[in-house]
Amino acid sequence: MHGAAEAVWEAVAPLLPGFSVEVLPEVDSTNTELMRRARAGQAQPILLAAEHQTAGRGRLGRAWASGPGDSLTFSLGLPLAPADWSGLSLAVGVAVAEALHPRVQLKWPNDLWVDGRKLGGILVETASFAGGAGAPRYAVVGIGINIVPRAGDGLSTPPAALGDLWPEATAAATLVRIAPPLVAALQAFERFGFSAFQARFDARDLLRDRAVTLSDGSSGTAHGVSETGALLVHTGAGMQAVSSAEVSVRPAA
Ligand code: BTN
Repeated sequence: MHGAAEAVWEAVAPLLPGFSVEVLPEVDSTNTELMRRARAGQAQPILLAAEHQTAGRGRLGRAWASGPGDSLTFSLGLPLAPADWSGLSLAVGVAVAEALHPRVQLKWPNDLWVDGRKLGGILVETASFAGGAGAPRYAVVGIGINIVPRAGDGLSTPPAALGDLWPEATAAATLVRIAPPLVAALQAFERFGFSAFQARFDARDLLRDRAVTLSDGSSGTAHGVSETGALLVHTGAGMQAVSSAEVSVRPAA
């Protein structure tokens, strides 16, 4: 991972003044650690990777479990001041999927899927600085990607792994591949918002034209995303724009 840290730093530092890269053998969660640092006043741009997380977190309060060496787990923290934050995590998904492989799809809002199984996930959190609306916030973009195929437990299908797509995949090589386009995407998002990513999301949208069930009990057919990144679902009550981060969605059986 240390050679990778240097390669990432060389590619990203020219885009992000003050940028640093840190690799920890173990931490509870790279997102938790960067949020802790931000609250303690450390708000420089940094990429923090961990060889192992003991308390990885996913969206909706779920855990993100990974074993040492079987996945890439890192967070990028940086100050950002977009005019509109909506769609940020979808834009991150687009950048990561494009950097990984043409077969990687996005399951709204930002899960990475391949061949009908989850390959990775994204957890975006922000911390505020003093300052009103429009002031920069510190964004922590956490990414977890399965690298080594895992055996099924007999009950469930194992999740997808990047090793299924590229046999030679390693966490270090994957980090070097995705970090520079990820930083460029965050900078494009800051200037142009989600509209710069909408068509690219569309091209990888796993749910498009599929029957979906939402965690609030409603169901319908997914029709892509709006220019703010809301999922458009055609339900019995008409077209609904689902933007709540609290809603989860799954393809109907
Ligand atoms: C999800 O699938 O719900 C999102 C998973 C995000 C996991 C990554 S691993 C690096 C970073 N640290 C965490 O605790 N979570 C994110």
